[in-house]
Parts: sequence; C-alpha cells; structure tokens
Amino acid sequence: MTICSAPGKIFLFGEHAVVYGGFAIACAIDLRTRVSIQGSLETSITSKLGRGINRHPYVLKAIEKMKMLAGFDGVKVKIDSEIPPGSGLGSSAAVTIATLSAINMEFDVGLSDEEIAELGHSVEREIQGAASPTDTFISTMGGVVLMPSRRRLKNLDCDIVIGDTGKTSSTKELVGRVSLLRERYPDIVHMIFNAIGAITRRGEHLIEEGDCSTIGELMNINQGLLESLGVGCPELSAQIYAARDAGAFGAKITGAGGGGCMVALVSHDRAEKVAKAIEEAGGHAIKTRVTEDGCGKG
Ligand code: MEV
Repeated sequence: MTICSAPGKIFLFGEHAVVYGGFAIACAIDLRTRVSIQGSLETSITSKLGRGINRHPYVLKAIEKMKMLAGFDGVKVKIDSEIPPGSGLGSSAAVTIATLSAINMEFDVGLSDEEIAELGHSVEREIQGAASPTDTFISTMGGVVLMPSRRRLKNLDCDIVIGDTGKTSSTKELVGRVSLLRERYPDIVHMIFNAIGAITRRGEHLIEEGDCSTIGELMNINQGLLESLGVGCPELSAQIYAARDAGAFGAKITGAGGGGCMVALVSHDRAEKVAKAIEEAGGHAIKTRVTEDGCGKG
C-alpha cells in the first residue's frame, strides 16, 4: 500500500486571466488531501463523500490514465481530505495529484513530478473543459509560483485566513460565464485581463521584497476586477469587507468564485481577529500558511 498527500492552493492574483494565458500567482497551503492506493482485482473508492466510483470523476480519470502506463487490474483507493470540495481551494487538483503519485509509487511507473503535474492537468481538462495548469502544478510542487512561467517565488512571511461561504461552485460553470462575457465584450475583457496581468507582475516583485502590505492593496484591486467579470457573490463580498475592516492587508476571492472561498492576507498578530470577523460575516474561517511542501509520500 502507498499513501501520498498533496496540498490545496490559493490564488494571490490572476485566476480566470490565467485560463487565457495571463499571469497569475498561486500558493500551496497547509491543507492536504491524503490518498492511499492498494492493488486489487477491482477498483473501489472510499471517501467522506461515500463509497462508489462515480462520485469521484477526477480519481477515476487519474486511475484510467495510470492503467495505460502501469497495466494493473484495479486499485483500492481511500481518500481523506482537509480541503473543502468545490470551494476554490484546489481540492480536485489535490486528489488527482495524490492519486497519480500514489499509483506512480505503488506500481513503480517512474513518472517525474513534472510528468505527474502534466498528467494531472490533462485529467482536469478532460473533466472540467478549460483549465489552466495552475492548480495541478502547485499541488505537485508546493510553494509560491508565478504562472504561466512556473517560476518559484519566495515564501510569504504572513498568515492566510480563508473564508468558506459553504456555497459550492462549479469551476466549469464560472469559467464558462467569463468566456461568454469575453465573447460579448472582447475589447473590455481584454483590458481587464491586462490590468490583472499588470497587478500580478507588480505582485511578483513585492513578494521578492516581502512587502505584504502592498501585496494586500493589489489583492483588493484584483478583487474589483474579478467583480467586474461577474464571479462575485454577496456572501463573498460580506466576508471580504469584514476581513479588510478587521485589519487584513488585503482580501479577495480565490479560485473560480460564485461561492467557494475568499482569502485574506494578514500579519501574524491579526489572524485571530480577521478569522473572527469572517465568522461573524457568516463564513467558516480557516487559518493557514503557505507551504513549500508539494505532493509527497505520507
Ligand atoms: C480555479 O481554481 C481557477 C480558474 O482560474 C480556473 C483555472 O485556472 O483552471 C478560475
């Protein structure tokens, strides 16, 4: 039996724009999904969602891909995740990457981390249509990464507080919504994506300088642009404003939006206060940090 775990992620900047090749910065966070794999004659998958292979399309697709490389009959899969599903924290990528890695080790397939990230991206594309390689790359490698170049940046010396609306959202649907807006207003959406790109490039330098206060200010501007793309919702806005009022450096949607989670960047001494403000605004607050650890054994 092999157990692998992979982290979830937040976007500091650039979600949605990155689907069209724009710049984005995402960070692996200290919430993980653990997958255990054991060879078996038939495939079975067990998780908090219950038993049954059809509840786990990403895992099933990952197994199908690895079967072509390793030629096993089936696998017994057990999933244990700290990442809320459908919340914009990269739960699908984490379960996909942990499954691919555990099968890779269990059957000595010999794939490199880069190949696992690439295979994970193809799983996401096939299940959800348009998908950038961000979630699967971050979940494989960990750390703070500039996309699409995949350049590793310095770790952030501040805390992260996530607010979960508890309202699940479909990345496929939200990416589709932005795509329709882009078809109707190509010139305007192009300028919005360019502005998000400019924010991200500035963010890249500020991360190297460790200037969390200005990074937060840029996150707030990015949030305004995400709103203009139509991916906000009242629950997210309430938590974003609450976090800012409680002293966060900045706060915005993370991931596809339309529900799911917001993220606040905070100093260590403000984390508790911001978490409380998010809870009072109706969210479930999760205090976490950026992690350097990508997918690995255990
Ligand atoms: C989803 O976590 C982020 C999006 O940019 C989609 C993607 O990058 O595939 C909305």
